[in-house]
Amino acid sequence: MYKIAWLPGDGIGKDVTDAVKIVLDGIEFNAELIHGDIGWKFWKSEGNPLPDRTIELLRKCDCAYFGAITSKPKEEAQKELNPELRKEGIQYFSPIVKLRQLFDLYVNMRPCKAYPGNPLNYRDDIDLVIFRENTEGLYSGIEYHPVPERVFNALMETHPKMERFKNVPLEDMAISTRIFTRKGCRRILKKAFEYADKFNRKSVTVVEKPNVIRETSGLMVREAREIAKDYPDIELWETNVDAMAMWLIKNPQDYSVLVSSNMFGDIISDEAAQLIGGLGFACSGNIGDKFAVFEPTHGSAPKYAGKYVVNPMAAILAAKMMLDWLGEIELAKKLEDAVALVIKEGKVRTYDMGGKSSTLDVANEIVKKFKEIH
Ligand code: IPM
Ligand code: MG
Repeated sequence: MYKIAWLPGDGIGKDVTDAVKIVLDGIEFNAELIHGDIGWKFWKSEGNPLPDRTIELLRKCDCAYFGAITSKPKEEAQKELNPELRKEGIQYFSPIVKLRQLFDLYVNMRPCKAYPGNPLNYRDDIDLVIFRENTEGLYSGIEYHPVPERVFNALMETHPKMERFKNVPLEDMAISTRIFTRKGCRRILKKAFEYADKFNRKSVTVVEKPNVIRETSGLMVREAREIAKDYPDIELWETNVDAMAMWLIKNPQDYSVLVSSNMFGDIISDEAAQLIGGLGFACSGNIGDKFAVFEPTHGSAPKYAGKYVVNPMAAILAAKMMLDWLGEIELAKKLEDAVALVIKEGKVRTYDMGGKSSTLDVANEIVKKFKEIH
């Protein structure tokens, strides 16, 4: 029996994880789902949206399943913190970003597939998989404001282009670092190519901006060319991220596997999600060598929280990814067939798809179809 850390989180995280529970029960997935605390509630009361007890729980489980999280900018987060904790200089951090880094979940895999019959499809022939680097880049969290003098001086000493900024007061400057490592680039690229190889995908597109961000994007693209040599049957395409945003609208059906750094991957994965029905269909897996956290890509949508009206497809497809990762390939395939059938039949649909069914109705319908076809 598997042990899954169950992390509903905030807002509609509960609605959609309840739907996933119905599905996992219904398909007789043999697992213990163990609840863990995470999210805004724990930030407000304990000053920590990811309590240590939750990290401990994750260490004891095979993998984790996560619902959604509310994240707010610095000042707003401080305002909502328990007044007794406010003076302690505690800063809010995104628990999902922390989990990715803490457990070294370096792959963020985001399939975007148009299921036939989904009225929200932009086209019916889209089948993309995005591999987003998940632990470094602009998400490293190494940022400064105001800029410490030592950092400023080091930049002045080492980079001629700093000349333009030499008179800017330190408190009027903010710096966010975009750190790439060769290892970080290689491992995400390798996963993208391995996937393409395994599933007979014809191309891998590396999405960066090396014509301007010469060193970080440059490193990623140079490493991609190296790794591509090991896969002579797979074409490597290099596309700048701005052009990619356009091509995704113009010819999304031409693309297959996309690989990108953390921030660019974040952006293009939302765009790609919209092509196949929006965030209600966008599933993802944060995957490392030993552990993984599966989640729908959408946020906590507070205004819908507890109303059981949102689309649970993304969450259910994330559970399908979890089954694949656990090695339950057959079960995953059958679940996907049931999902595809419910979409195609179109009888049970949430409001975003033009229907009136609830979040849980969709889950129950998927279970019903699963039983009918198998
Ligand atoms: C995502 C989300 C997160 C991210 C947020 C919630 C921190 O947008 O998973 O894509 O930026 O990675
Ligand atoms: Mg995002």
